[in-house]
Parts: sequence; C-alpha cells; structure tokens
Amino acid sequence: MVDPYDLPDRLPMWPLHLVQERLSADFHGDFTTWLNAVRSLPTGLAKDCSFSDTVSVTFDCNRHTQGAIEEALQQLHPWRKGPFCIGTTTINTEWRSDWKWQRLKETLGDLTNQRVLDIGCGNGYFGWRALESGAEEVIGIDPTILFCMQHQAMQRFIQDPRNWVLPLKVEELPTSVQFELCLSMGVLYHRRDPLHHVRQLYELTAAGGRCVLETLTVTAQQSLFPRDRYARMRNVWCVPSTEQVVAWMTTAGFYDVAVIDISTTTIEEQRSTEWMRFESLSQSLDPTDSSRTAEGYPAPIRVICLGHKRG
Ligand SMILES: C[S@@+](CC[C@H](N)C(=O)[O-])C[C@H]1O[C@@H](n2cnc3c(N)ncnc32)[C@H](O)[C@@H]1O
Repeated sequence: MVDPYDLPDRLPMWPLHLVQERLSADFHGDFTTWLNAVRSLPTGLAKDCSFSDTVSVTFDCNRHTQGAIEEALQQLHPWRKGPFCIGTTTINTEWRSDWKWQRLKETLGDLTNQRVLDIGCGNGYFGWRALESGAEEVIGIDPTILFCMQHQAMQRFIQDPRNWVLPLKVEELPTSVQFELCLSMGVLYHRRDPLHHVRQLYELTAAGGRCVLETLTVTAQQSLFPRDRYARMRNVWCVPSTEQVVAWMTTAGFYDVAVIDISTTTIEEQRSTEWMRFESLSQSLDPTDSSRTAEGYPAPIRVICLGHKRG
C-alpha cells in the first residue's frame, strides 16, 4: 500500500503538513466512509497493470470478492476521470479522459527521466498515462478529497510509488521544486487571476522543461467573462480566447508556444454514467441549440497549448 502519510521527502518546502490535516475526518465529513471503502479493498491481488487508455489491473478472484470490490468503489462515487478497469469491473467515468490524452500523447513523446507535476489532477488518471510514456515520477495535486481517495483506491491494487495525488491547491505550492513537465488542465478558468496562474506554471517548470495548459476557450477574439454560471459550473471566471492563452504563456516567459489541439466537447466525451450519476454536459447545454450553453454562451470548446522554458 502506498501510504498517504508516507510523504515524499523530495518535495522540500512543500506544505506537506496540510496533506495530513486534510486527509482526516476533521476536514471532511465523508472522509471516514471513503477511508473505510478504500481499506476494504484487497491489496496484493494484482497480477498485471496496464496504464493504457483504460488503466487496468488484472487479477483472479471469485465473484463474491469482485462484487465487494465493486461495491466499495461505488462508495467513492462520483468517478469523473478515467476509465479504469479493476478485475472485471469497468469504471465508466463521466469523462473519456483517454480522448484528451490521445490529443496530447504524441506531442509529449517519450517522458523518460522527466518529473511531472499535474495541477488539478483529479484522481490521478493522467499520472498513470504519463508513467506509460516513461515519466520518472508524477506528483499530482488536487484539493478535492474524494479524488485523492479514489487515487488511494487505485493504489490498493497498483501499489506504484511513482504516482502521487496530494490534497493541495496550486496557490499553496512553493517554487522550490521544478518539474520537467507541468500540466495544468481544466484549472485556468477556475482561477480569478489567470495570468498569475500562468506565471506560477512558469516558476514551477524546470529550465529546459515544458508546460501544457489546457482550458475552456472561445473562438471569438474577445475572451468571455460569464456573469454567473457557465455550462452550469460555478467559479468559471474567464473563458479566454485561444490568442489570449498563447499571449499569457508568452508574457509569462514561455517560448515556441503552440496550439496542439482545439476540440468541441461532445456528449460522448462527457456524460452521465452508472459511475457518475449526476447531470453532465447534455443537461448543461441549451435543449434547443447544442451550440449554446444553458446560459446562452458558446458551448464548451477546449484548447491545449504547449510552451517551453529556456534551458
Ligand atoms: C475540470 S477538473 C480537471 C481535471 C483534469 N486535470 C482534467 O483535465 O481532466 C479541475 C480540477 O481542478 C481541481 N482544482 C480546483 N481548484 C484547484 C486549485 N486551486 N489547485 C489545484 N487544483 C484545483 C478540481 O478539484 C478539479 O479536480
């Protein structure tokens, strides 16, 4: 078992005391339920692990054990990022995160000898994918405790100390440690000061390293500042134009900033499933015009940009 309290000593100056504080019943009322679900999962069962599109663990067990595993994993609902397959249980997550990775994978190439920081990593799905591409280690941070517990659930089976998910916020990170690859995907539009976020990404990227910035975007020249909600999401402060994202990255100091991909999010990529039973994208769009959100804004489009830091 990769113990959440066995914190990496290779993150000097990081506020690791917060990890212990937050992974506790004092911090979140559901923590004990989640911890019990994680602890009920068997360890040492895995015969093989694969970090491909569906992150999978294979093992032999009887139907009773498999049923108990599935029940415990369902207690960690909602599962947003994936997919995963644990034994014969497929966790059909809200997002086809493998589609996002496919848009990125070729550009990222071989990650051998690279340390990766994944900001807003959710349950750590992309961390497994980065390991598949050869990364040395992935430090993921995400303040949502449930997602940290989902990662712990995966680690019951996978037991790989190269992929971490710590309950920290990006604004809490010092710049004492820098990473060859920084990922910030789906976070920028939640930040009140997006340029500050991009400058922080620059500080967290090692000299000669790279940074992936993925965000909602608008194709119009003017960035969008939603009055209230955007696609029923709270805390979306700015949906920048693609030119604005590139300009922020360049201003922050990145060079050769490239737009790798622009994709409209479809209701096949983000949808309700038996593992995410709440409403999803289709309920966030105008029922009479799927090119608009429920609030009348342009429907979600996402851009992936890549920037380099000079060596
Ligand atoms: C839209 S999801 C994106 C998840 C994943 N990176 C992806 O691209 O699919 C945004 C994630 O950022 C996390 N988040 C929100 N505020 C954050 C912050 N201040 N620092 C780090 N992560 C944050 C949320 O908990 C959530 O898991």
